[in-house]
Formats: sequence, structure tokens, C-alpha cells
Amino acid sequence: MASLTIRKLDDAIRDELRLRAARNGRSVEDEVRVILREAARPDALPKADFPHENSILAAKSGQRPKSDITQRVTLIIGGGIAAYKALDLIRRLKERNLHVRVVLTRAAQQFVTPLAASALSNERAYTDLFDPQSEFDAGHIRLARECDLIVVAPATADLMAKMANGHADDLATAILLASDKTILLAPAMNPLMWNNAATRRNVAQLQRDGVVMIGPNAGEMAERNEAGTGRMAEPTEIAEAAEAFLRPPQAQPLAGKRVLITAGPTHEPIDPVRYIANRSSGKQGFAIAAAARAAGAEVILVSGPVDLDEPHGVIVKHVESARDMLAAVEAALPVDIAIFAAAVADWRVVSEGAQKLKKTGAALPPLQLTENPDILATISKSKDNRPALVIGFAAETEHLIDNAKAKILRKGCDWIVANDVSPSTGIMGGDDNTVHLLTRRDSEIDVDSWPAMSKDGVATALVARIAEQFKKANP
Ligand code: CTP
Repeated sequence: MASLTIRKLDDAIRDELRLRAARNGRSVEDEVRVILREAARPDALPKADFPHENSILAAKSGQRPKSDITQRVTLIIGGGIAAYKALDLIRRLKERNLHVRVVLTRAAQQFVTPLAASALSNERAYTDLFDPQSEFDAGHIRLARECDLIVVAPATADLMAKMANGHADDLATAILLASDKTILLAPAMNPLMWNNAATRRNVAQLQRDGVVMIGPNAGEMAERNEAGTGRMAEPTEIAEAAEAFLRPPQAQPLAGKRVLITAGPTHEPIDPVRYIANRSSGKQGFAIAAAARAAGAEVILVSGPVDLDEPHGVIVKHVESARDMLAAVEAALPVDIAIFAAAVADWRVVSEGAQKLKKTGAALPPLQLTENPDILATISKSKDNRPALVIGFAAETEHLIDNAKAKILRKGCDWIVANDVSPSTGIMGGDDNTVHLLTRRDSEIDVDSWPAMSKDGVATALVARIAEQFKKANP
């Protein structure tokens, strides 16, 4: 009955229905059932309980939910070599739709300019406690209060010492002393300074005062041949920590679940310098990994060669060839859910040249190909360790649904996310995706066509749908 209803609807309503179903992690049929139930018993409508209720609509427009936009961060940049990374941090905070106001200490201005900070934040950058223009109405008090969070990055040993002792002799320290907001410090200094007894005392005092810290991380220092703990946390880590303080805690419907995801292309070597590859960017698989992590899952991402930042909190295994990918996938088992988003090369060269193949002037070198292992089919059909839910992708350029239906049966997976990767769609390498979710129940295959959305939106909707599936299985 539901499919009859859907076919008769006009396109706009059908799209709206699909979007609503995707948003709530249900099939269109289930969504129709819920709507009918709602019509019959208006007080009994089950509410979507996935945390990103608004994010599919938002992702569709490339925006985060509107309600997030009002949150403000005062970013204090201290005077250390890591100050250059604070410029990237401004971008990362703004990417999260946070409003950023920047304050630079005098020393910070030796490393980055107020002009660069204001160009990136789209706001005037503040530098001076005794600036008549902003202090006529006690500007440092406004900067301390008119925000939801203060981030100090880099927090130098000197700035932390001043904070621990309540100094207020410049704009940054006056703001920090006058604030009743959460203060997030990203310390950065030489390892000897970090381990110095005076810094240890200051860190302990600041922690007692309720200041929160991220990092420092261990690694190479800016100084030649120096390594240890003292590197500032990466801008993405700091931005994520800031976001975690500003956003209410999210429901974690996949908490306790282990999720494996493959992403990106594979490279199949021809000789030491050449390989067979494809145009996959890995964006969709990476977005799914980030969404699954945000939903509380432990996530292992097996990725072919891509040019993407690793999603925070995700275990990433980098591989080159299809055979490497299969080995990494098998090593990651057992998992509860496996999602195969990688564009695995179907073929590899039978015998990889030990040396670079040379032009001989005569015939072209013959490339004899052999088929790669099918990772999705191998895992779907494995007797031991088959994940409870196995999801494949179908990249097609014609007969999308028919080919995807044949693929789900041939490969033995439970669901397939089908997309048209013809060059005209811009999906391969692009930021958006239009997908159809095929779900198999015995020999029956249901097809849900989702409207065009960003790859982040597809990831969020897919994870919501997975969470719903597990909730149904274990109510
Ligand atoms: N896949 C895989 N291992 C392979 C080939 C594909 O795990 N050697 C997975 C992909 O990650 C995807 C699904 O199988 O989840 C379908 O991939 P796709 O490239 O669409 O199909 P192919 O299996 O390559 O089939 P065809 O080339 O005939 O479309």
C-alpha cells in the first residue's frame, strides 16, 4: 500500500518524504507507516532520536544547522611559533559556524599579523588594552563576556604563568581574568619548558581553577633536533574540542558498536613508478567514518591513497593495493558493521615490473591483467566473523538500480548504496551525492531514493538508518 501511495505523489512531496525518511533513519515505507499512525493518533508520533536531526537539511545546503551559528569564541593567540597554526584554527572554528573574535598578544604579533587574523575571522582583531576606540566602554570586559568560550592557542609558558597568578597587564590577560566563561588552553612550548617545575605548578593551579587543556602533543619541535611533549594540538583537534564544549552532548546510538569502513581508490602497481588507479576521492567513505564516530562507534577506516584529513577519533589504516586492503580489512575483524565505500581496482598487473618499463622502440609492452580479490564479497560470504550488517556501494554509469540489485545478490551483502558516477554527475571527486539505498530482506529488495545532498548529509543519513536498524533488532 505504501509504494502505491508514493508513486502517486508529486515530485516535491516525494522528495520531502524521502528526506524525512532519511533524516529519521527509516525506509520510505516505514516513514509512511509512521505518518499514517501519526494521522490516526496525533499524540503517538515517535520522534526521531538521532542527534543530527537538522543536519541533513543543513548539509544539503552546505550549511550547519542555523541554531549553531550564534555561538561565539574569543580566540587569544599567544606569542609562540605555533601562532601560525592559530590562523588555520580560525578557519576550522568558522567551518563549524562559530563566530570568532581574535585577540593577539604583543608577542603573537611577532609571528602573525592582526590583519591576517581579521581577514580570516571577518572581524577586527584586538591587540591593545589601552585602545581608546574599544576601551571607552570597557572593551576587555565585553571581549571576556560576549562569548561562549575562550580559546587560548598557542598558550605559551609565560601566558600560563600570568594566568595562574592572576595578572592582567595586557588585553589578553585582562580578558582571561575578567571572564566567567570556560577557558580552553592549547599549550605549546619547548619540552624542557613544559616539564619545568614552574610550569608544572602553573598547570596544576590552572587545572584547579577550572581551566581546560587540550594537548600539548608529543613530536618534533620547531627547534632543530628537538622532540618531546610540547607541540600545540592540531587546529582540527582544538576546533573539535571547542565544538564539544559548545554543543550539547549528542545521543550516541552506535556506542559500543565496532564499524569498519573502506574508502578511496586502490593503486595497482605496474612497475616501481606507474600504477593503475581511478578517480575516487575517498570523501564519501571518510564522511561516513566521521558520522559513525560522532554516533559513538569505534571506527576503523581502511583507506587507499587519498588527500584528506583523517577524521578525529577514527583509527585509520593506509593501504595501496586491493590485496593490501583485503588484508587490512581481515585484520580489523570482528566488527558489527562493515561499509565498503572504496573504489577497489578490479584488476592488477600479473607480474609487476621490478624495474621501470622502458620504451624499446618496437612493440608496446604487454600488460597482462588478472582479477583482484573482491573484498566485499569475501567478507559478505565469510563463514566466520561475518559482520551483522554488511553494506556495499555500487558505482554505476548505466542501469543504476538494475545493476545495483544484481550486485547486492552477487556479492551477498545486506544493503547497497547505489550512485551514478557518470562524469556528468560530478559525484566522483565532488562534494555532493545522489544515492539510492537498496536493502535486502531474503530475496526481496527495497529501494529508497534519497534526494541530492552533500556527502556529509548522505553519511549522516546512512548512519541514522544503521542506528535505526540496530535499534529494531535490539529494542
Ligand atoms: N568491491 C570490493 N572489492 C573489489 C571490487 C569492489 O570490495 N575488488 C566493493 C566496492 O567497495 C563496493 C562494491 O564492491 O562496495 C561494488 O563496487 P563497484 O566498483 O561498483 O563494482 P564492481 O564489483 O567493481 O563490479 P563492476 O565493475 O562490474 O561494476
